[in-house]
Amino acid sequence: MEWETRYAGRMGRVKSSPIMELIRVLAERRVINFASGLPDPAGFPAKTLREAAAEVLTEDWRGALQYGEAEGYRPLREWVAADLTTRGVPTRAEQVLIVSGSQQGIDLVARALLEPGDLVLTEEPSYLAALQVFASYEATVRPILTDGEGLDPDAAAAALRQPGVKFLYTMPSHQNPSGATLAPERRRLLLEAAAAAGVPVLADEAYLHLRYDPGEPGPLAAAAPGAHVLTVGTFSKVIAPGLRVAWVAGPAPVIARLALLKQVTDLHANSLTQRVVHRYLSAGHLPAQVASLRAAYRTKRDAFLHALTRQLAGKATWTYPAGGMFLLLRLSPGQSPTALLSKAVDEGVAYVPGAPFFPAGGGEETIRLNFVSPALGEIDEGVARLARVIGP
Ligand SMILES: Cc1ncc(COP(=O)(O)O)c(C=O)c1O
Repeated sequence: MEWETRYAGRMGRVKSSPIMELIRVLAERRVINFASGLPDPAGFPAKTLREAAAEVLTEDWRGALQYGEAEGYRPLREWVAADLTTRGVPTRAEQVLIVSGSQQGIDLVARALLEPGDLVLTEEPSYLAALQVFASYEATVRPILTDGEGLDPDAAAAALRQPGVKFLYTMPSHQNPSGATLAPERRRLLLEAAAAAGVPVLADEAYLHLRYDPGEPGPLAAAAPGAHVLTVGTFSKVIAPGLRVAWVAGPAPVIARLALLKQVTDLHANSLTQRVVHRYLSAGHLPAQVASLRAAYRTKRDAFLHALTRQLAGKATWTYPAGGMFLLLRLSPGQSPTALLSKAVDEGVAYVPGAPFFPAGGGEETIRLNFVSPALGEIDEGVARLARVIGP
């Protein structure tokens, strides 16, 4: 029998991501893929995870296969709290909620805080899937002037003073899509301005550990003690995204409220993968894993920048990523990466047009490039193809 689905009005604001659409198309074509948002699977520690999973399913199968607490597996919460504490953010386990991916962390925070019409401040450009979350709760996103050193502190302070601002969302280190990192001296200024305005900051530290240059940044929350920061972090980029293990940390009363929402959403994060991640972490594997990812991704980043300089100097400009997975390329005014995309796919290279990452419009001449997911040997050829598509 035919039936008509009468969707809620807010569903009109939930748009399919152009990236997901593109990934579907690319699955059927053999192209050099600079489009994806994926880490390089060669970096997944599959053998160690296999062993950790076998141990968990042998020694703790009752816990691993049973329902668990909404807040998450207690030893993993303790591990995250201890790790944040060593990074300058004193944290107790009660201040940590384990979530099914930091995407869910962003969603829970947005759902807990946003009323229709509220303002959310972001960088420009910002992470597309977070923008989609804010739109789904009918918030209005106001981007703040951003440069290679992250949010402009004066522009941020002025934006924070506007009425109706619910929170400011930022990726302080190696952001998606530009790779920019908030400069050390700007961090404290930002947190002071947010505190003065009474506006919390949602810091998405997804790429914190993927640093290729010297001078490893800490979490934003470490820049000012007692700052009003909710931090989301994830094991997706440093272990593997398919595990769906991530966390939100902040004041204990806020975490308790978010845990209620987490329960309403999916009861709790996966019992098995939380334990596998915890075993992996407590066996001390993470530092070597991060070091090996950094070495591999640094080599690719350098190869990519070298190829861009050789092939595209004078035709485009690009951001410099000290870490992370992405950089943003800017073509000459009037050139449209969206219009060029089918030509690029025919030429055998794919990218994501940057415009959707600009919440207030603009960015039409930009392209997001993932420099970690292609094989090292594909980078030069992929950039050469891109240069052919862009033209003289
Ligand atoms: C900035 C940023 N935040 C959050 C996520 C979501 O990661 P996950 O849900 O796997 O933790 C991503 C994934 O690409 C990201 O780029």
